[in-house]
Amino acid sequence: MKRIAVIPGDGIGPEVIGEAVRVLERVRITHEVSLHLTDFDWGADRFLRDGVTLPEGALEMLAGEFDAILAGAFGDPRVPCNKVAEEVLLGMRRGLDLYINLRPVRLLDARLSPLRDRTVAEIDFVVFRENTEGAYCGAGGFLKKGTSEEIATQEELNTRKGVERIIVAAFEYARANRRKRVTMADKSNVQRFGGDLWQRVFREVASRYPEIEANHQYVDAMTMFMVLDPGQYEVIVSNNLFGDILTDLGAAIVGGLGLAASGNIHPGRVSLFEPVHGSAPPLAGKGIANPIGAILTVAMMLEYLGHKSASEAIEAAVRQSIVHHETTRDLGGDLSTTAAGAAICNRIG
Ligand code: NAD
Ligand code: IPM
Ligand code: MN
Repeated sequence: MKRIAVIPGDGIGPEVIGEAVRVLERVRITHEVSLHLTDFDWGADRFLRDGVTLPEGALEMLAGEFDAILAGAFGDPRVPCNKVAEEVLLGMRRGLDLYINLRPVRLLDARLSPLRDRTVAEIDFVVFRENTEGAYCGAGGFLKKGTSEEIATQEELNTRKGVERIIVAAFEYARANRRKRVTMADKSNVQRFGGDLWQRVFREVASRYPEIEANHQYVDAMTMFMVLDPGQYEVIVSNNLFGDILTDLGAAIVGGLGLAASGNIHPGRVSLFEPVHGSAPPLAGKGIANPIGAILTVAMMLEYLGHKSASEAIEAAVRQSIVHHETTRDLGGDLSTTAAGAAICNRIG
């Protein structure tokens, strides 16, 4: 029995998580996956009601009582400072030490790419985004705030341990999955200290994997090549901020944010799975959000929990639903969120 904490969150989060849970209920029957789901109401509504973001003791409870966490999205225009996402989402990433943000970029159907003449085989890579430090460390501050002399500093933290473990994770993944090349993206031509550390650690770690090509690109060039020549990538590793930006672009080249899945992982520990997209306020409550990102997220979570055949069945069902145009409007179909989720469910079995 696997214990799953479900946190639908804000905006379209509850709508897409509803479909992801429907898929979980389906594989319970078709693949005899034994699950126990527990819902948590953490998000903007809860915060506006009682001021609580991540309740006290939540991290200990998640680590002690659950095998995985399934989350929707966090972010609500009524909470302008983004306090909920900061404390719930970044709170779990940091607090549970989920140092790998694994974000696959895989073209499921050639028709979906906005890039001309790209085949399914050509766009198939994974991004290893560092997930606990970098520009997300929260360090910085104001001097003379509100005056014309105001100064704002925003610091970036790169620890030897943090850099090394994400680069090792990328090479280990490449080795285990017969990928031949790992490309690191940084801005070491400008960020001379953090970039230097990443460069040195990358070379050191790469020397332990002689069968894998260690490739480097500046992140600005990478955004260009991701559009012009995405077929060159197998595994990408980068820091927290660049990884965030690269994976929205990655989602776009395979059909959009509505499709992209992610895992926030600390191998062997409770890990957090969520679609790459956010709460998409303009779409919320309309029943038009694409549930595929959340559904492929469930597939990633099941694979992490050791249910590989259920995971593969979900992915195959998603591919089939796309082939048969059973999709929401962002992919050119005319189905609602629930109808698209139901169509995928019907194809699992
Ligand atoms: P967003 O990902 O919410 O949406 C950007 C656009 O992408 C949407 O307007 C829509 O056109 C498209 N899109 C996203 N998800 C879609 C889906 N499932 N189906 C169809 N189209 C989809 O990004 P944003 O508008 O920059 O951010 C909105 C809020 O979400 C902000 O508060 C932001 O901080 C937050 N956010 C949260 C997460 C998270 O919780 N993991 C991730 C990203 C953004
Ligand atoms: C993501 C999101 C988050 C991030 C925000 C909501 C804090 O954009 O998961 O990609 O920047 O990591
Ligand atoms: Mn993002």
